[in-house]
Amino acid sequence: MKTPVFEALKNLMKENSVSFHMPGHKGRNALVDWSKYIPYFDTTELEGMDNLLEPRGIIQESQEYAAKVFGAKATYYGVNGSTGSNYIALATITKPGDKVLIQRNCHKSIHNGMIINRLNPVYISPNYNENFNLLSGIDPEEVDEILKAEPDIKAVALTYPNYYGVCYDLKAIADIVHKHNKILMVDEAHGPHMGFSDKLPMSALQAGADLVIHSTHKTLPSFTQTSLLHVNSDRIDLNKLRDRYQLYTSTSPSYLFTLSNEAACAYMDSEEGKSKLDWNIEKCKEVIDRLNKIDGVEVFIGDPEDKTIVAKDITKILISIDGISGSQIKKRLKSEYNIRLEMADYYYALIFCTLMNEEEDYERLVAAIEDLAKKTDNEEIEYVNIKMPEPKIIISPSEAYFGKKEQVQLKDAIGRMSAAPIIPYPPGIPLVAPGEEITKEIYEHILFLMDNGLEIVGLMGYNKDNVVVVEE
Ligand SMILES: Cc1ncc(COP(=O)(O)O)c(C=O)c1O
Repeated sequence: MKTPVFEALKNLMKENSVSFHMPGHKGRNALVDWSKYIPYFDTTELEGMDNLLEPRGIIQESQEYAAKVFGAKATYYGVNGSTGSNYIALATITKPGDKVLIQRNCHKSIHNGMIINRLNPVYISPNYNENFNLLSGIDPEEVDEILKAEPDIKAVALTYPNYYGVCYDLKAIADIVHKHNKILMVDEAHGPHMGFSDKLPMSALQAGADLVIHSTHKTLPSFTQTSLLHVNSDRIDLNKLRDRYQLYTSTSPSYLFTLSNEAACAYMDSEEGKSKLDWNIEKCKEVIDRLNKIDGVEVFIGDPEDKTIVAKDITKILISIDGISGSQIKKRLKSEYNIRLEMADYYYALIFCTLMNEEEDYERLVAAIEDLAKKTDNEEIEYVNIKMPEPKIIISPSEAYFGKKEQVQLKDAIGRMSAAPIIPYPPGIPLVAPGEEITKEIYEHILFLMDNGLEIVGLMGYNKDNVVVVEE
């Protein structure tokens, strides 16, 4: 008998590490004590139950309740993460061949959604904040200018907030998009909790986006793979949405995921859920103050000089420590203090807090960071200029994706069309997307980033010196 996954999961359980990462439930029960029910609740469309693909009974009632809790016009439970909900949303607001305005640093599921739906992107890049070396927000005026210059754009797809909890003026953008008579979908995978406290930034639903996508599992107490797709205006064709929902969803949708979505919504409608969120927000404030008092430690809370940042979700604690890279902070907190963080890049590590974190988690975190900062030499890590060359679009992502491909050495790729995205971290924005030319400038930038030890996703081969290009 071989059960490597089971063994690894048992070890993970024994490890009993502090969770500052997803899923949002943090291994704790909210509303439902899952351990008792899982074998019985994993069921199918039996008589008396309902069908998520065509809900007419309990699931319809449950989704209507979820919409009320979130203040949406309609809500659909997703069982394939925000990935699946992004596919459904993009397919609902476009048809093949359409031009769409896309945030350049959107998640892979939006890039893939463009391939599946054969869309032609016009990209808008977020600001790169040089004071803090991170991606910040989108300038509403730039959205206006692009929509004026390219009136055949059919829809706009943005990501808000970003992974670090940075929020831009989405309300102003929603007004601009609607002034141009276009549809706005917002991938708010990282912000399903934001509408439940006025101490957090404005949510995409409050800002007036037409379609909003949430990863329930990221910041609410819900199973991995659960998501919500909210309709927030009359601009969305609900029949088309239902059709696309069926196109992208399993014909055996999980009742456990359906229930988990429902339980998360009900929890956010309860006094307990709301007060836990409130307590955690206050605790995050206190923790940030305490961390900022430690020598060599800095938590990013915003930048008044950066007009593209209007708010910051403080439950995403973005920390840097002098003398140690973000990746080292993450590694050492795990190996020396048994604390697991969500992610890290060259400069920062991300402490991902949700309403399910508790006092002892934060106390262990602060004590560990105090100790770690003492052990480092407090010299600043070297600054790497990561300002990127402009992309040069030759063909659409889907043409590149479905074209014939070959793997070539990086040095031979100059002047060729990339068939896959190449994304350096930081800043986490594609240097090239499928269908764009690998120019000499881009090639030299990749070498520069590699020399400086930055992580680059999309390079292939043993020495990471190969790329996939479209065959000539
Ligand atoms: C901005 C954003 N959108 C969508 C997704 C996909 O979400 P899921 O993992 O729920 O499929 C992610 C995942 O990390 C994400 O960061």
